[in-house]
This record gives sequence, structure tokens and C-alpha cells, in this order.
Amino acid sequence: MFIESILKERTSVRAFLNKPVPKEELITIFENAQLAPSNCNVQPWQTCVVSGKTKDKLKDAFMKTLMSGAAPNPDFNWLAQYKGIHRERQFGSANALYNSIGIAREDKKARQMAMIRNWQFFDAPHAVFFTMDKYLDIMGAVDLGIYAQTLSLILSEHGLANCMQGALGQFPDPVREILNLPDERGILFGMSFGYADEEAAINKTKTDRELLNNAVAFFN
Ligand SMILES: Cc1cc2nc3c(=O)[nH]c(=O)nc-3n(C[C@H](O)[C@H](O)[C@H](O)COP(=O)(O)O)c2cc1C
Repeated sequence: MFIESILKERTSVRAFLNKPVPKEELITIFENAQLAPSNCNVQPWQTCVVSGKTKDKLKDAFMKTLMSGAAPNPDFNWLAQYKGIHRERQFGSANALYNSIGIAREDKKARQMAMIRNWQFFDAPHAVFFTMDKYLDIMGAVDLGIYAQTLSLILSEHGLANCMQGALGQFPDPVREILNLPDERGILFGMSFGYADEEAAINKTKTDRELLNNAVAFFN
């Protein structure tokens, strides 16, 4: 598949079939993702792929954390309040998502329930946590973003869908505990992936993009 057609066809997927990806295929996918570039080739990503019992354990721990009323405590500076046009686009993407599943703007409870699906990995068979040493801060975050997009494109080439999730970096403590990660390791964000449930209404969500002229300036 050419990159252009992947880019035109890909959307974030939030409902998956109950069908794991074969282990050998997972290895090939993550081996290829290792080819992502990084600043000075430091390759800061420490990728944790979770499936099966470990994924279920994490889901339970997230549910417990949410039920306790705990506030998000991300390892990195992820809680920026969007302003102006960014805020408008944030609302646009949320509306596209909630409209696809028939949730009204004022139905706060239903929106919260839909949000909780993030920490259930949208029932995907696999999820990834993009982690790195905390001290790397923004330099590592740039590399992890590039790595995640590389992985997303590879997954598409394999007929697999994904949803990147800032939500998976919001409660890092249970992740560190269950995956037995050292304290100095930060969880930046994550991604659920697997085979898309093509019938699911939520997967019909379509976001738009800014016109080229408003996003890109060409200087001669
Ligand atoms: C870094 C990053 C974090 C994201 N976090 C979430 C998330 O926590 N939950 C979610 O449902 N979607 C999340 N998304 C998906 C975006 O909402 C989605 O990419 C955007 O609305 C554009 O839609 P599209 O991917 O379908 O083109 C995230 C995307 C990125 C790149």
C-alpha cells in the first residue's frame, strides 16, 4: 500500500474485533517500527505491548483508579488547556466522535462513559504504552511521536487499525506497577490496536482537516 492511500483511508478506530494479531506478525511490525528516526539516534522509546491477561489486569486497575475519583497525574506536561482555534478543533473532533454514536452535546454522563472506554482499550486485543526516561522530556516526546506515527503506518499496511491515546498516559502509576517499570520511567501516551470492527458506528467518525493555506506557508 502506498503511504498516500494509507493516509487518505486511515482514521482512528475505537471498536475492534476479538481477534488477536499472531505473535510472529507482532514481532515483524515492531521490528520495522525500530527503523523510526530519532534525535541523535538515541531511540528513547521503551515500548510496552500488552495483550491477554496483562491487558485485562491493567484495565481492571484503571477502572479501580477511575472509580476512586483519582485525578489524572501524567508524568509529562500533558494537561494544557487548548485555546482559540485549537479549542475549536478539539470541540470539532469531540463532536464528530459523539455524533457518530448518537451522544448529545449536553449528555455529560454519556460522554464520560464514552471517555472511560479509553481505559478499557476499546476492547482491542492489544495496546502499547509509549514510555521513556522522564528526564528526556520534550526531546524524547518528539521522538516518541515520530515512532508512534511510524508504528501506526506499519499497522495500516498490515490491515490493522489503531487509536493513539493520550488518555493512556493520564494514570501512569498502575501502569508502572503492573509492568514493573522503574520510577524514573515515564509513560507518555499509548495506543490500542487490532482488527477494526467495520460495523461499529463509532468507527464511522470522520474528522476534517484545515485547508493547506491555513497550515503551510511556502517561502521562496
Ligand atoms: C497524541 C494523540 C493522542 C490522542 N489521544 C486520544 C485519546 O486519548 N482518546 C481518543 O479517543 N483519541 C485520541 N486521539 C485520536 C485523535 O482524537 C484523532 O487522531 C483526531 O481526532 C483526528 O482523527 P483521525 O485520527 O480519525 O484522523 C489521539 C491522537 C493523538 C495523535
